[in-house]
Amino acid sequence: MKELLELFKGIELFSGLPEDELVPFAERFGPVSFDKGSHVFREGETADKMYIVVKGELVVLKGMEGGERELARLMEGECFGEMALISMEKRFASVEAITDVECLEISEQDFANLVKEDHRFDQSVMRVLTDRLRVSEDLASQNIMNAYHTLIFSLATLAENRDPETGAHLNRVRNYCYCLSNLLSELPAYRDKITPPFIKTIYIVSPLHDIGKVGIKDDVLLKPGRLTKEEFEVMKTHSAIGAETIKKVVDSCPHFTFQMAYSVIRYHHERFDGKGYPEGLAGEDIPLEARIMALADVYDALLSKRVYKESFDYEKSVAIIAEGSGTQFDPDIAQVMLDNIDEFVTIHKRNVD
Ligand SMILES: [Fe+2]
Ligand SMILES: [Fe+2]
Repeated sequence: MKELLELFKGIELFSGLPEDELVPFAERFGPVSFDKGSHVFREGETADKMYIVVKGELVVLKGMEGGERELARLMEGECFGEMALISMEKRFASVEAITDVECLEISEQDFANLVKEDHRFDQSVMRVLTDRLRVSEDLASQNIMNAYHTLIFSLATLAENRDPETGAHLNRVRNYCYCLSNLLSELPAYRDKITPPFIKTIYIVSPLHDIGKVGIKDDVLLKPGRLTKEEFEVMKTHSAIGAETIKKVVDSCPHFTFQMAYSVIRYHHERFDGKGYPEGLAGEDIPLEARIMALADVYDALLSKRVYKESFDYEKSVAIIAEGSGTQFDPDIAQVMLDNIDEFVTIHKRNVD
């Protein structure tokens, strides 16, 4: 029961309840499991249950123009489905298991009974709702709106040009970053540095890493062959160009999300041995998120066809990563990838070009 108790203590909805009250609460939830690839619920369905993740990982998907878009990942200790229960609205998004998953489930009826029976739970529900409302008010504040406008404008300007990297590459890269961060966070040395907000944020901002490339002129960016030394120097400016763009957003809103975006954009071509660009930073002087990003990006590039090379197979790509550990890549991060290479292969296979 101890573990279950810890799980419940970490959930906002139950955090107002004293420990001895949590046990009878926890007992109202029944265990339920979902096979990898199956849906817990689908967007638009009537909500009749909420869930707490005990083991495994899920993905939140929302239907958009051109297919489903991944909105978030859910990990152990997170609850989901509660907002639709509280608001009595249809499911806003679908949730799918990406590994075998174990959850605790509570029915709408039991949830309603809890609210009725225990005023402290009732208060917790109110508090969660008020907090969410406050967050959305903050989002509407002038500061953030300005930043958003600047960001949208900057991206729109860049999008007028053409980025040769595919959407599938961006999706794979953010999943590698998510997976690397998640695995690293389990190591004692990284536990305090890689928090759940870090993991969620790197997932959101990593697709922006190459936005500066669209500021590179077409004859270099779209050249159908290997670049000359001079052309490569031009290409290298993409990290500084992209960072400069996002810098305007950071200046108007120094929020963690934008700061991390700046870091991955500016420093994703730095090397652990100091031989990268644009600054030639070495070791831990390179921000952690950029060291993670660098490995994710290169791993995917190795597996992809480029104008100057064929795609390498899984074996050769792994060998190159192992060889670059400690020189090109942070050895801790490379080790985590090598120890769990199957997970990265799975991500690659799931998001084909
Ligand atoms: Fe890049
Ligand atoms: Fe990339």
